[in-house]
Amino acid sequence: MNTKRIWMFCALCLIALSLATINWITQISNAAPITYARDVAPILQKRCEECHHAGGIAPMQFTTYDAVRPWAKSIKEKVASRQMPPFHATGALGRYLDDPRLTDVEIATITQWVDGGAQRGNLKEAPKPREWKNDWQLGMPDLTLKVRKTYTLPQSAKDRYVFFVFDHVFPEDTWVSSIATRPGNPKAVHHANTHLVPPNVKVPDEGWMADDFEPGKNGTIMISGWVPGSNDVLLPAGTAVKIPKGMRFGIQIHYGPNDKELSDATSLGIYLADGTVNKNLRMMFGDRKDLQIPAGEANYSLTSKSTFATDGLIRFFHVHMHLRGKSYAFRFTYPDGRQETLFDVPNYDFNWQRSYILQEPIRVAKGTQVEFIGAYDNSTKNKFNPDPTKTIRWGEFTTDEMMQGRIFWEAVDEKLNLTVKKGVVVKNESASNGRQ
Ligand code: HEC
Repeated sequence: MNTKRIWMFCALCLIALSLATINWITQISNAAPITYARDVAPILQKRCEECHHAGGIAPMQFTTYDAVRPWAKSIKEKVASRQMPPFHATGALGRYLDDPRLTDVEIATITQWVDGGAQRGNLKEAPKPREWKNDWQLGMPDLTLKVRKTYTLPQSAKDRYVFFVFDHVFPEDTWVSSIATRPGNPKAVHHANTHLVPPNVKVPDEGWMADDFEPGKNGTIMISGWVPGSNDVLLPAGTAVKIPKGMRFGIQIHYGPNDKELSDATSLGIYLADGTVNKNLRMMFGDRKDLQIPAGEANYSLTSKSTFATDGLIRFFHVHMHLRGKSYAFRFTYPDGRQETLFDVPNYDFNWQRSYILQEPIRVAKGTQVEFIGAYDNSTKNKFNPDPTKTIRWGEFTTDEMMQGRIFWEAVDEKLNLTVKKGVVVKNESASNGRQ
């Protein structure tokens, strides 16, 4: 081609391109506007209603157009900044189970809907309303434990910690697949930690311990926890947790300050393992009780280390800090020296502490070392900081700090070979045939 021809060719290309563009733009502007009924309601149903329904944990409901419309601007802001739905670990969509995060397309749909005037559209196009029961996330438990008496919480400006003990005594070693907490009054319960309580702990008639009772010091062992936004974890078939014979459950409930008298009767739901159990769920734990965060310090960080003594299969992660918590990461160093941050919560938020359950468990080799790295902001820049002038140490109160990182895992080689019915072992193959 000579120069003139090339120019001609380019000019034609340009015309073709512009025509295509014009066509494309007209198509977009001619496209039906984004509406609540057709485009937005399905997203809200799938990703928001779980908390934003009547009686759900969020104060506002997003189940009808009229309820959603006044929140449109705020919804756009919260989804565009990815503050809602709450989820704080990094990693691609699909890495974690029950991941509520929106896709880029879903965020664009909501943004454009709000920018276009948050139109209702034809409600006939909306999906059928979803029914929400404020019930157990995993369905009815095999065993529901109730506190002995409803607790009345006087109006108070102070936090309160109450340790309840449930009456049920496990008559035999019992294997469980899940322990779920259902706060009786979500407005009163700030968070709750479930413990195993040994037989020697004496319980007053009302069913809760005196104010000076210190969990952990009386042989009680913390076994799970609940905070708003918690998701109940159901262990995969074959894996379970053993509750030793004679134990009861106890629950330490943290009630926040409340401006009127409230009452609460929190329950525990126990899901018993059934079938073959091969693995006892294990926990790798990182914490630093010597933490000491200087007043005003914006970036205080410390590390706790642990090593896998056997080949492991990681199921889920959890981190727990209090109000100064800023970020938490688990850095793995594999036996070949390779390093990787396998779990990362770059913007920790005390109000949202969920379990991050891996869609596909991750296998790590014996000798893999984990660094639990927690960072804190005790400066005025941290909007949750109640007092930046104080040095902060480890402690139970929300105004103290903790640095708890947890990795829940199974040993690859463990093969208990137990046959379990309603949580109780009916056949122990490993014992009878002498093999491990
Ligand atoms: C796990 C529960 C949960 C899910 C899922 C959830 N929210 Fe929320 N949302 C809350 C709670 C609790 C609040 C009130 C406290 C707060 O603002 O953090 C809230 C507050 C809000 C607010 C009000 C913020 C303000 O201005 O006060 C908006 C807007 C919002 N959510 C939008 C959404 C949208 C949109 C989705 C889905 C894409 C969603 N949320 C999913 C629990 C949830």
